[in-house]
Amino acid sequence: MKPARSFASDNNAGIHPEILQAIAAVNHGHAVGYGDDPYTASALRKFKQQFGQGAEVFFVFNGTAANCLGLKALTDSFHAVICTEAAHIYTDECGAPEKFTGCKLIPIPTTDGKLTLESVRHAYHGIGDQHHVQPKVISITQCTETGTVYEPKEVRDLARFAHEHKMFLHMDGARIANAAVGLGLSLRETTRELGVDVLSFGGTKNGAMGAEAVVFFNQKLAENFLYVRKQGMQLASKMRFISAQFEALFTNDLWRKNAEHSNRMAALLQKEVSKIPQVKIVYPVEANGVFVQIPRLAIAKLQKRYFFYVWSEEQSVVRWMCSFDTTEEDVKQFAKFVAETVRLC
Ligand SMILES: Cc1ncc(COP(=O)(O)O)c(C=O)c1O
Repeated sequence: MKPARSFASDNNAGIHPEILQAIAAVNHGHAVGYGDDPYTASALRKFKQQFGQGAEVFFVFNGTAANCLGLKALTDSFHAVICTEAAHIYTDECGAPEKFTGCKLIPIPTTDGKLTLESVRHAYHGIGDQHHVQPKVISITQCTETGTVYEPKEVRDLARFAHEHKMFLHMDGARIANAAVGLGLSLRETTRELGVDVLSFGGTKNGAMGAEAVVFFNQKLAENFLYVRKQGMQLASKMRFISAQFEALFTNDLWRKNAEHSNRMAALLQKEVSKIPQVKIVYPVEANGVFVQIPRLAIAKLQKRYFFYVWSEEQSVVRWMCSFDTTEEDVKQFAKFVAETVRLC
């Protein structure tokens, strides 16, 4: 029998019961569509409590849209976006950022998922040259696609460089809650206070059914975003059901509890599989993902019982993610199965 929960992705998990309840709770009577309802007003207030006054917030359906439309608000089509070669916007969005913005993405090699100031400096050239795209945005993912977390100073330095060079700092925060918890900081301290201009705020991987937001920390940048969102086909008519999810996430710190739990499960998974000689942890475990190198032959055998993704075929590295509903028992049983399987390979 396959176990009920696997380690493939935090969005393979279901909806947190409190969020599902919150959706049901707003499911009565009629409410004005397109965000002009009291539930949306309340959720927006909650966002402002987290991020401070002056933050402009727009709800969208998914993370790809948050990234694409957030970048669209910052750029013209002759601009370029500097990101890592592992960035979700570069590898996993089917060219949507290029399609929506018309911009070129400049992918920078990375060893741990992070952009360094040095590499950004190197990529920043051709300014004022009519033959060359003009770098306008530095986009980073927090936490990164490899489960690492930028230190505040690293983000601050990138923001300073961006602003000194008339660029913006965009943060793909599909897992921003995990990063904030990993750093022991508030959401605001993890983003706005470090100089981030636009944040793709992720709710889905943190227990929501499907709720993401584009958060601007510079009101001027948000000026036309209502229209950008509608043209981008991300204006929800029944907005109240997205809003209810954020309301629940920001009530009693549910966002934090969920992220703390999934990070703690990843730390436990790391501890358990570190005891297995054939398993090598390849990136520091700083949020809710564990990346390991395992014997090639073990991958298919493990996947027969537990579904998960291969991160690097070539290096035999796989990705194991924990979510709000992963239990200690899940982790221990999985680690036991890994130990038994790799021993036979
Ligand atoms: C780093 C990152 N950004 C953004 C997303 C958002 O993707 P989606 O459009 O599937 O919500 C994901 C989802 O896997 C992600 O891992």
